[in-house]
Amino acid sequence: MTLPAFFAREGRELMLEGVALNEIVARFGSPTYVYSRAAITAAFAAYRDGLGNYPGLICYAVKANSNLAVLDCLARLGAGFDIVSGGELQRVLRAGGLAKRVIFSGVGKTDAEIEAALGANIRCFNIESEAEIEKIAAAARRLGVVAPVSLRINPDVDPLTHPYIATGMKESKFGIAHADAIALYRKAKAFEELEVVGIDCHIGSQMLDEEPLIESLDRLLDLVDSLAAEGIALSHIDLGGGLGVRYRDEQSVAISEFVATVTKRIARWQALRRDTSAIELLLEPGRSIVANAGVLLTQVEYLKCGSKNFAVVDAAMNDLLRPALYDAWHDIVPLGAPGHGAQKRVWDVVGPVCESGDWLAHDRELEIAPGDALGILSAGAYAMVMASNYNSRGRAAEVMVDGGNCYLVRARETIDDLLLGEARLPM
Ligand code: LLP
Repeated sequence: MTLPAFFAREGRELMLEGVALNEIVARFGSPTYVYSRAAITAAFAAYRDGLGNYPGLICYAVKANSNLAVLDCLARLGAGFDIVSGGELQRVLRAGGLAKRVIFSGVGKTDAEIEAALGANIRCFNIESEAEIEKIAAAARRLGVVAPVSLRINPDVDPLTHPYIATGMKESKFGIAHADAIALYRKAKAFEELEVVGIDCHIGSQMLDEEPLIESLDRLLDLVDSLAAEGIALSHIDLGGGLGVRYRDEQSVAISEFVATVTKRIARWQALRRDTSAIELLLEPGRSIVANAGVLLTQVEYLKCGSKNFAVVDAAMNDLLRPALYDAWHDIVPLGAPGHGAQKRVWDVVGPVCESGDWLAHDRELEIAPGDALGILSAGAYAMVMASNYNSRGRAAEVMVDGGNCYLVRARETIDDLLLGEARLPM
């Protein structure tokens, strides 16, 4: 199997940016998430390379991995950020991200979140419904400011991905129906508290084919033309996120080629129009920036052999929910040489949580002994962010490696962290 970039074997030891992952287990314990700064930087650079000189902003989708160090790394690279909550806005600001590069997506923005984002002076709200137009206009009126807005259009294109992460078809709760777009742009334009600046979509995640994205782009460009004919001029187009990554043997879309294809297509469309001012391109990638920059380290606690062989490890569905929730496949590899008395068998790798759904992998051939450490690969996106405290398990530690150094970027949760805010009855 091919390891993701920046992972390598030195003898039997699995290294990330030259750091032995077994040493991270020894130093920080297990389970622990580890991220590579170089891998995050390289993925972001691929987006920037694809843009070339075309005006654009890569707004990292914070939901994929919101650790402060990950956001910090991206902020220093000049990233923008796509947020979906007031909490994510605070994280971006505390990580050194610039509010003027923040776009705010999501179907359920509350008054408090909208006011916080207006107060911070974010770049744009991606509006998802007619009611939200009114809500944001009212909030802007209360604060005496003008809110920059874009409408998230649901282009009704099938992203050909897992149904739980398909968002751009008409059955989905996301975005404004393509057929209602013009009417709602007119409505938004009529509010003096709103400045209509853009158009956006996000049709799904883990897409391995660029066709649905290109089809969505064409549908948005048609709308930009129709709106221009009505005197509604937009300054940016945001194609969302969604590029897939390799978890097993998937052939992912090459990032910079894809972005270059998009900018060329927009430039060609632009050339056919009389208006020569370039429309800026925004993208909202999450998974393709961080998924293969991360690994979840875990240790084997017990081996249980019978009609089915189980390797019980110290990570569980509360740490990594993707297998249980989406039947997702993550590669599992030993971090070093097998321990004394190791058994080579086909294992189901499971956690200690009291649920049959608590599995991390089915039917994997591994040579392992209790105490051996394993790496669950491609665990940088939608992994730690979806962790919970189920079974009163503290969430894992997080470590960032950076050119031979490693930094603890989130301490393992303690029982005191878990109980914070809880109380017994007064009597
Ligand atoms: N923009 C919006 C509005 C989104 O809802 C999302 C992801 C993104 C951007 C980033 O998409 P990406 O580039 O990461 O595909 N938990 C699931 C994935 C949920 C994706 C939700 N939205 C998983 O583990 O596969």
